[in-house]
Amino acid sequence: MAPKNLLFWAILLYSFSNPTYSFSTPTYAHQPPLKTYIIQLHPEAMPDSVFASKCHWHLSFLEKTVTDPSSRLLYSYQSAMEGFSAQLSEPELDLMRKLQHVVAIRPDRVHQLHTTYSYKFMGLSPTNAGGAWVKSGFGRGSIVGVLDTGVWPESPSFDDRGMPPVPKRWRGVCQQGEGFKTENCNRKLIGARFFSKGHRVASLSPSEDDVAEYLSPRDSHGHGTHTASTVGGSAVPMASVLGNGAGTARGMAPGAHIAIYKVCWFSGCYSSDILAAMDEAIRDGVDILSLSLGGFPIPLYDDSIAIGSFRAMEHKISVICAAGNNGPIANSVANVAPWVATIGASTLDRRFPAVVHMGNGKILYGESVYPGTSHEKQLEVVYLTGGDRGGNYCLKGSLPRNKVEGKMVVCDRGVNGRAEKGEIVKEAGGAAMILANTEINMEEDSIDAHVLPATLIGFSESVQLKSYINSTRRPAGRIIFGGTVIGEARGTSVAQFSSRGPSFTDPVIPKPDVIAPGVNIIAAWPQNLGPSGLPEDSRRVNFTIMSGTSMSCPHVGGLAALIRAAHPKWSPAAIKSALMTTAEVTDRYGKPIMDGKKPAGILAMGAGHVNPERAIEPGLVYDITPDEYIMHLCTIRYTQSEIFTITHRNVSCQDIMKKDKGFSLNYPSISVIFKSGMTGKMIKRRVTNVGEPKSTYTVQVVAPQGVKVRVKPRRLSFSRSYQALTYRVWFILQKPSRSKSGTFSQGQLTWMNLKDNKTKIRSPILVTKSTSKNH
Ligand SMILES: *[C@@H]1O[C@H](CO)[C@@H](O)[C@H](O)[C@H]1NC(C)=O
Ligand SMILES: *[C@@H]1O[C@H](CO)[C@@H](O)[C@H](O)[C@H]1NC(C)=O
Ligand SMILES: *[C@@H]1O[C@H](CO)[C@@H](O)[C@H](O)[C@H]1NC(C)=O
Ligand SMILES: *[C@@H]1O[C@H](CO)[C@@H](O)[C@H](O)[C@H]1NC(C)=O
Repeated sequence: MAPKNLLFWAILLYSFSNPTYSFSTPTYAHQPPLKTYIIQLHPEAMPDSVFASKCHWHLSFLEKTVTDPSSRLLYSYQSAMEGFSAQLSEPELDLMRKLQHVVAIRPDRVHQLHTTYSYKFMGLSPTNAGGAWVKSGFGRGSIVGVLDTGVWPESPSFDDRGMPPVPKRWRGVCQQGEGFKTENCNRKLIGARFFSKGHRVASLSPSEDDVAEYLSPRDSHGHGTHTASTVGGSAVPMASVLGNGAGTARGMAPGAHIAIYKVCWFSGCYSSDILAAMDEAIRDGVDILSLSLGGFPIPLYDDSIAIGSFRAMEHKISVICAAGNNGPIANSVANVAPWVATIGASTLDRRFPAVVHMGNGKILYGESVYPGTSHEKQLEVVYLTGGDRGGNYCLKGSLPRNKVEGKMVVCDRGVNGRAEKGEIVKEAGGAAMILANTEINMEEDSIDAHVLPATLIGFSESVQLKSYINSTRRPAGRIIFGGTVIGEARGTSVAQFSSRGPSFTDPVIPKPDVIAPGVNIIAAWPQNLGPSGLPEDSRRVNFTIMSGTSMSCPHVGGLAALIRAAHPKWSPAAIKSALMTTAEVTDRYGKPIMDGKKPAGILAMGAGHVNPERAIEPGLVYDITPDEYIMHLCTIRYTQSEIFTITHRNVSCQDIMKKDKGFSLNYPSISVIFKSGMTGKMIKRRVTNVGEPKSTYTVQVVAPQGVKVRVKPRRLSFSRSYQALTYRVWFILQKPSRSKSGTFSQGQLTWMNLKDNKTKIRSPILVTKSTSKNH
């Protein structure tokens, strides 16, 4: 069965509110209406002798508040959190709040998905004997759990030829369901589960856009197939999108096993379902979790993903999350817990040129994956401005056939999805489309497999095009498709849509952590969907092109699997440190990574662009214990009960802080906030030697403007493996109170290995001047 829905990936990029519902669940006749809540319990409070299981204990709370407990229970959680999710009315909720051992109650939240060649761009090569792939056995033996829209198991990317057997420690299952059998799992896809209860009860009202979705791990949307194959897809020769980008497609960790946790449906991804998936994944035995989804920034104690991730981290599972697609607005970064890795998106150096020859003889650069030169004839160009139907955006019903038939239609980006605009132009009789970036997109080139000849032009080209259209009575143009071009001195930049820091909830931790390729990524696609993802698209492909931090997140998920395979004992913090301290701030041509027209800063790219070849042997790592995260929560003034909600530990911050005055979290990047009146600040860091047993490092500092930086000691001599040494850094403000509040300056601190002059452990520094006294 094929989805009747439109445009799923527009949802990824623009965070659309969701048009669709899919289940006809029995309507409950209760008055007042029921809502889903996540009820967190005290983990040690269960009286052993009374209840046969945790689930029975959880049900006992419902027995005290409702008449039909088992029909109200959605999930019973034990590993990602202690507690359960259930449907309650307002009065029942009030009763529940009063029960002993209830620690916190949160309403269920809906999250959105954030949406061949990229492994080469990252410097990975199957033939380089000293390279990261060879050193890690291609990630052999690692298990990556992907929380997403499911998987299309028949995709050639999930072929398991050459894969090692399923690890003995694996305890997961291959859950049967609609269109999905146990035989759909293999040595590549070692597990698959689906979680629909939260989604189902939230989507009670049937709508006209009723969508058919597989009630099973099978992917009805494409997004999950795309991300899972980016993590660990097997090598597929001759992969392309309609002939573009042809080459061997491979995931970042082609030797890793993949476990599918389907938590996202057409109506979004509910935290009750996400938490249930994390709960199972912890018990199943995954090493890495990749989450290309999220919402808007919220405090950590309200954030089920942050809470589940804390437990996962305690089980040594690395949690990798998309930063979100709400850039370039400041403070938009989501999934910011210090124990998760937060991934922004960057561009590749691959181009798909499709230039526009305008009637005035000028040429505009554009990009497209539309195949074929047979569509390159000159056409009249129309751009429908004026009126209130949104003709300039090519909204549904805004294009009168008599104005667009047989013409090349200009559509501004925004409001509706990019591929959807193409379908609307085609339906109205248009012959071709030019998608024009607006100021907010600048020159970013997220392209799609459009259903008609089309190209996407940047903002400066779109200004030229529109002034040409204005200057003549019969504007004309022609698109010349140029195929794929790689290299050509195209620099790397942060995607405009990639969410920016500082973190709204925890500005002491600079976020995002790193960036990875997330624009125009080619990866696997369900075989019953067209490459544009539109229901009207009858073309069939094994690969398509997508953009989003959803695409950058699984790149890093795969790299984490490589590091884990090479260093099975490393903690999630050590793996993240390796990725961050070896990240690049310049591209392969030695030019700074850009953010629009200026070099990118920490709040756009974090520590920089991941470099797997260096990350596999970082020399030193900044490790962090679970206790240190708790101390950090004390320093950002979370209350005892908020900390208990997140960590399940009852701590007295007063006692903890007494023991270690001036504590600072051992994070691989450094953020210093000067509040009004402050002139100096000291931080501590601890590095662990994971390189040669005997090695010496010296420090190099680039001080942020207006700040003096002193490091002590300036030299670290290690005599054995896994030895940890501490250093301190003093920051002295040189011109206090001059600059405006909220101004940033940036620098870096690098430990250089004296023996090889190659191993560099770099930490970006962000200094913020704030006039407020209590942040
Ligand atoms: C085109 O002309 C109209 C009216 O003459 C004007 O409002 C508009 O700003 C012009 N657009 C461009 C891109 O020059
Ligand atoms: C997709 O892959 C399958 C299995 O390898 C193959 O049979 C099919 O021809 C491919 N489809 C396209 C459109 O390339
Ligand atoms: C935490 O400990 C304090 C005493 O130190 C106690 O009063 C409180 O009830 C405990 N809270 C929880 C949630 O266990
Ligand atoms: C490393 O760099 C330092 C300073 O530039 C130089 O003195 C030293 O000889 C170099 N060592 C090696 C092994 O290249």
